[in-house]
Amino acid sequence: MIVKKILANDGIDNLGKILLEEAGFFVETQKAPEGHLAETINAGNFDVLLVRSATKVTSSIIDACPSLKLIGRAGVGLDNIDVKYAESKGIKVVNTPASSSQSVAELVFAHLFSGVRFLQESNYLMRSQGDTHFGELKKKFGAGTELKGKTIGIIGFGRIGQAVARMAIGLGMDVVASDPFITEAIIPLHILPTGQDIPVPIRTCSLDEVFQKSDFISLHVPGKVNGNAVIGQQEISKMKKGVGLVNASRGGVIDEDALISGLDSGHVAFAGLDVFENEPTPRTELLRHVGISVSPHIGAATQEAQERIGREMAENIIQFFANK
Ligand code: MLT
Repeated sequence: MIVKKILANDGIDNLGKILLEEAGFFVETQKAPEGHLAETINAGNFDVLLVRSATKVTSSIIDACPSLKLIGRAGVGLDNIDVKYAESKGIKVVNTPASSSQSVAELVFAHLFSGVRFLQESNYLMRSQGDTHFGELKKKFGAGTELKGKTIGIIGFGRIGQAVARMAIGLGMDVVASDPFITEAIIPLHILPTGQDIPVPIRTCSLDEVFQKSDFISLHVPGKVNGNAVIGQQEISKMKKGVGLVNASRGGVIDEDALISGLDSGHVAFAGLDVFENEPTPRTELLRHVGISVSPHIGAATQEAQERIGREMAENIIQFFANK
């Protein structure tokens, strides 16, 4: 049997690697030197290129690597891969859409909790002044709000948006959601002590309704729409004053200039950003803004999600070659 070779250029969780090796694959996890991806693939005669978000798989890489049969994206977003071009050349592209929803949803709530209790600024000021200005800081950060009873608007109601809805319902929040392809979703609320799933149906609505009704809005869309941000100045002006915005989907789906002006005018109370237009060099105005809680694109970066991603990807690859 000829051993199929996989270059996991951005790494792979150990479980995924073990599953692939047990199935007879050779897995290389040594990253190709910058600018030498095609050369590395050709020198090793790799059949599969496995990437996360760091490696860009362009049409020129695809053209330069005739040994490739499969490109795997360990994650959800496919925006770093020229999928159409790969498929036009007979190379299949697979991702792991089912594995990271819970982790991304939990990060959304980390940013929301941070925003409503001012944790991003409080963490920063407590470090330098907590021992000398405790009373003042207690007063400064002492008028937070609860999430319970508030309305969260979810833009993009696929797997991750629905995981956000499930957590929101669990917290006692109202959910409004918008999605051009989904009219209704049944959110299963899993009650641990009884092991029961309680189905909660949610019908989607228009974006304008989401803007009007939401106290907080979280975005779960694959990217810009025809090169345009989903949320710009006009959309922010339709939102409630004091809205909190979270983006853990793709950089640029909230226009960054509009966000900064919204925060500076007070129309937007706070934002949580896990993704940025210019990754990996986001604008410093965003990173240093007191109204923004920031994280470095770690939505799916939990041990549990990475293990599920590794397993899902290994299963994808094994199945692909089994069907050949
Ligand atoms: C994804 O698309 O899976 C997430 O954004 C995680 C990532 O790209 O690293």
